[in-house]
Amino acid sequence: MKPKVLVTRKVFPEVTERLAAQFDLTSNDADDILSPSELAARAVGAEGILATLTEKFDAAFLDSCPRLKVISNIATGYNNIDVAACTARGVMVTNTPGVLEDTTADLAFALLLAVARRITEAEAWLRAGEWKKGFALQQMIGRDVHHATLGIIGMGKIGQAIARRARGFDMQILYSNRKRLAAEVEAQLAATHVPREELLARADFVVVMVPYSAETHHLIGARELSLMKADAILVNTARGGVVDDAALIEALRFGRIAGAGLDVFENEPAFNREFLSLKNVVLVPHIGSATLATRMKMASLAADNLTAALTGKMPPTLVNKDVVKR
Ligand code: DGY
Repeated sequence: MKPKVLVTRKVFPEVTERLAAQFDLTSNDADDILSPSELAARAVGAEGILATLTEKFDAAFLDSCPRLKVISNIATGYNNIDVAACTARGVMVTNTPGVLEDTTADLAFALLLAVARRITEAEAWLRAGEWKKGFALQQMIGRDVHHATLGIIGMGKIGQAIARRARGFDMQILYSNRKRLAAEVEAQLAATHVPREELLARADFVVVMVPYSAETHHLIGARELSLMKADAILVNTARGGVVDDAALIEALRFGRIAGAGLDVFENEPAFNREFLSLKNVVLVPHIGSATLATRMKMASLAADNLTAALTGKMPPTLVNKDVVKR
């Protein structure tokens, strides 16, 4: 009997075919988000789950799925999984670091440039037939990115990839991070470690790139936004919930900051619709890692993790390493 594996969303056929050769695979090819009860119903008897961040795995789910050995998340973030509850039940949790950092950094920079140079606003204006006078000196005036000060909150691998891009724009780079980087890494990136409040007060562009957790919930709220310069721009490519979206909308509406570029939101996909009434924001639907090459690498690494866990091997990127010592 092959072990039962549930694939919770639509995944590339190359990956599911590989898994189907070894496991009794059930796939959600309709790609709808499964409700908690549908998820539990489809997972009955499963030993492995290939998941995405749209499914929540809590203690109640785990108790309904006692044969489960591994949840392999196709994402670097794993805030959709109660890792402690998994560890307590001997369930491995794996993620996909190391394959999406450059792609996500590209998107953070794309958002930063798009807000600074008003790309989506200018394009919508052109498409609406408003461009009637040709070149005009004061048309769609934006902000310079080159030589500006960039503040990166969260200097993990993606934060560092953003810093490398910023160097090409001759930006001054400030960062704040729980742990200061080694001196040689700081020197390579030309990045200066400063307290978060100082970063917020000095940066022309603030990019948030921390994982979501209870500690980082609303890390950027009304108080932090009030510390930023009135002409500063915020970019969130981290996770919904790291920024307090209601506070951000207030700050944007009343000109407390100049703009925002957002890939992630609280309560996706039912994000706060008040964002839509603002011109000084660029909004994209959680596409940080969305290139074919990167999504393939993520899905493939997740499949490797799942296969290893179900064949008695060590998954390449296991999150809860303490689970194997139990
Ligand atoms: C992640 O990896 O955590 C992203 O949000 C999905 O690409």
